[in-house]
Amino acid sequence: MIQAKVKILSNIKAGPNYYRMTLACPAAAKKIKPGQFFQVRCGNKSLDPFLRRPFSVHNVDKKGNIEILYQTIGKATVLLSDKKSGDALDIIGPLGNGFEQRTANSERRTSIIVAGGMGVAPMLFLAERLVHRRQTTDHRKVIVLIGAKNKKNLLCEKEFRSLGCDVKISTDDGSKGKKGFVTDALKGLLNANRYTLNATLYACGPSPMLEEIAKIAAANKIESYGSFEEHMACGMGNCYGCVVKTKKGYKRICKDGPVFDLGEIEW
Ligand SMILES: Cc1cc2nc3c(=O)[nH]c(=O)nc-3n(C[C@H](O)[C@H](O)[C@H](O)COP(=O)(O)OP(=O)(O)OC[C@H]3O[C@@H](n4cnc5c(N)ncnc54)[C@H](O)[C@@H]3O)c2cc1C
Ligand code: FES
Repeated sequence: MIQAKVKILSNIKAGPNYYRMTLACPAAAKKIKPGQFFQVRCGNKSLDPFLRRPFSVHNVDKKGNIEILYQTIGKATVLLSDKKSGDALDIIGPLGNGFEQRTANSERRTSIIVAGGMGVAPMLFLAERLVHRRQTTDHRKVIVLIGAKNKKNLLCEKEFRSLGCDVKISTDDGSKGKKGFVTDALKGLLNANRYTLNATLYACGPSPMLEEIAKIAAANKIESYGSFEEHMACGMGNCYGCVVKTKKGYKRICKDGPVFDLGEIEW
């Protein structure tokens, strides 16, 4: 883990309220696991807002540059969007546990990624790692289900496709892909492939989506791992401001997570 002021290489609009920021961060880049995040000081010298904000690692390139993908929804993210290439950004990370890419059971041949809304942010990096693993082991397929409110809020379709993933889109209003929630698409996929899929589910999105995925996974007897996007304060395990109830007691999302076995959560 590092705390450093790193150089912003670019901060580019990626959609109506979305930005992609690239940071030069070779000191941390090699050790990052998909699903880990950085705590970012978004304000300027006034320390306003006081609390750092968590952002997932969206991508890591060979030069040691880290990308984050973010949506402007409030004070900190708007301030972040104003930053220019060449500016310095104060970051702490990588933090959290990240996704384990399952390899132990060679029978598990399909990885299904479910990304709801801003939940796509950590999943591109995970998909890249899973695809790479697939080329070097017998993991056969990476299916990506992306859910968004509408076509305008749909992110990363092209990027997942260029990795070779089998991408399926759902939008709440039907403006692109299947109309409905991404969890409906997941149910459809598992029902259609009940006897052939032996899958691991990886998810990121709002809590109600993760809860539904936990139910679907239990009904289909498959394992599921989800990354929580809850509010955080310290982001480093000190304040207990981000707990989730699990079968083994309360766990801190920032330190013990943000990725949990969804079958272990007390919903
Ligand atoms: C582990 C983790 C990883 C994250 N990764 C990303 C990422 O890669 N890209 C990204 O855009 N965002 C990500 N987030 C969410 C991001 O941290 C918040 O959007 C950001 O803190 C908002 O700050 P703000 O000051 O702009 O908005 P605020 O003024 O703090 O909030 C504006 C509105 O958004 C709501 N809100 C704020 N944070 C959250 C949240 N975490 N979940 C749900 N609602 C929230 C508030 O209740 C309020 O209504 C992540 C969160 C966590 C916990
Ligand atoms: S935010 Fe402080 S313990 Fe998680």
